[in-house]
Amino acid sequence: MRGKAEARRDAGGPVAVAGAGLTGASWAGLFAAHGVEVRLYDRDPSRREEARLRAEEAARFLAAVGLADGTRVEAGLALLRTVGDPAAAFAGVTLMQECVTEDLQVKRQVFAQAAAHAPAEALLATSSSGLSVSAIQEGVRRPERCLAAHPYNPPHLVPLVELAPGALTTSETLERAWAFYAAMGKEPVVLRRDVPGYIANRLSAALWREAIELVRTGVASVADVDRAVVTGPGLRWAVMGPHLLYHLGGGPGGIRGHLDHLAGVKEGMLRDLATWTTFPADTADVLETGLAAETSGRSTAELAEVRDQALAAILAAGATDRVAAGRDAAAAGAGSDRAEAVVVRGVHGKAVAVAPGATRTTLAWGRRSVLVRFDLEPEAVIPMHAHPHEQTGYLVAGDLTLVGEAGEWALEPGDGWSLPGRLVHGARSRRGAVAVEVFTPLRGEYLPGPPPLEPHPTGFFSDRLENGRGPKAPPGR
Ligand SMILES: NC(=O)c1ccc[n+]([C@@H]2O[C@H](COP(=O)([O-])OP(=O)(O)OC[C@H]3O[C@@H](n4cnc5c(N)ncnc54)[C@H](O)[C@@H]3O)[C@@H](O)[C@H]2O)c1
Repeated sequence: MRGKAEARRDAGGPVAVAGAGLTGASWAGLFAAHGVEVRLYDRDPSRREEARLRAEEAARFLAAVGLADGTRVEAGLALLRTVGDPAAAFAGVTLMQECVTEDLQVKRQVFAQAAAHAPAEALLATSSSGLSVSAIQEGVRRPERCLAAHPYNPPHLVPLVELAPGALTTSETLERAWAFYAAMGKEPVVLRRDVPGYIANRLSAALWREAIELVRTGVASVADVDRAVVTGPGLRWAVMGPHLLYHLGGGPGGIRGHLDHLAGVKEGMLRDLATWTTFPADTADVLETGLAAETSGRSTAELAEVRDQALAAILAAGATDRVAAGRDAAAAGAGSDRAEAVVVRGVHGKAVAVAPGATRTTLAWGRRSVLVRFDLEPEAVIPMHAHPHEQTGYLVAGDLTLVGEAGEWALEPGDGWSLPGRLVHGARSRRGAVAVEVFTPLRGEYLPGPPPLEPHPTGFFSDRLENGRGPKAPPGR
């Protein structure tokens, strides 16, 4: 039977969140909502207490809007602790999410503390928006496990996390981090090197400069510029990025057709856009006046509530997933109706040995679940173990006996089963078996790492299954 430590590793924790400010509280809420044990570390006791309450609020909000499972949220929150001592914060963690003040010396100090107290293989991730992870990891013991994992505010709600390597970071670190954040329901994108602002903030900065300029030069009000973004391009950007949208805008000629037709018009605009690199002195005055009209007396807290509810509604509708779903489902040979209904975030087919005579193949995963195939040879035994993930299974072929502490269940092809998280169980097969199982939430270690940069080759499944290159049917079937 696997021990407590292994079951905990499956849950992806314990995890330390260093710095209990705005960002730290939100990260802590997200991790706890996925049932992970979180240590919220800050040197300031009042920040710790405030952050604990905000983390609880964030996690419960995710459950309330249907983005997390209520039972798991409460289980995760029961494990959440605030800590004022770095040794206690970092001992035994699998990952540190650093969110302290944006100051290189402060961050280096916290990374040094984490490196001194955390296990050698723990991942050390900075949330920094503006500092280079290459600079932060300098002088840290085992710097290859440091990376940037930059969230977009608020981290518990906005799926994006930008993973960037420093000069000394290994690709294995990025792969492990990718699997961890994907298991936390995040949408990781991987940069090949760390650049100031990563991807999203660079794009935001370019857009905001022009938005400010449109107001400063009297072209439109703050409210109208904001409205133009929300009801026009912003709405489209929630489902497709600028490259894909312009590709569609080019009609049958695609992106090349778009450039052929519109490059001249766009170049005219580009020549007219603001190019300043220092904010004009009147920026705050001009924006404050316009924002007073736009907010018409609503407080920041009220507006944040509106933002979070609307973001949750968009996410719950699954709209942001449809492009990826279409791509991966098409690659898997599924029809377009299926792409609407099933959000498939990746397909993967490498068989991994899990016990003598037993292999596991990850077939596909979504935001919250992973679909896995198990192949057991005759007399294979899966030892007793426990993990925090709910598991729903279906025996496709062969025979399978599920073993629990309360008894044994002999299954026939066509039988299904459902096991709650943390149940101690095992299995064995006499003649061999093929079973499929869904694990919820995602088991990070079942994900293969960052998806390939190119779309998956069309015909992936049919190639594996029809040409007989996939796992063999069990004997005796
Ligand atoms: N605020 C955002 O929207 C946002 C978004 C993405 C990333 N980030 C990044 O997250 C980080 C934190 O930003 P924030 O806005 O949450 O800041 P914040 O000021 O709200 O919180 C920082 C916390 O760090 C604590 N701290 C400072 N030094 C410490 C030390 N040596 N040991 C332990 N705790 C210490 C402070 O007490 C404070 O509670 C920054 O690097 C920032 O760039 C922020």
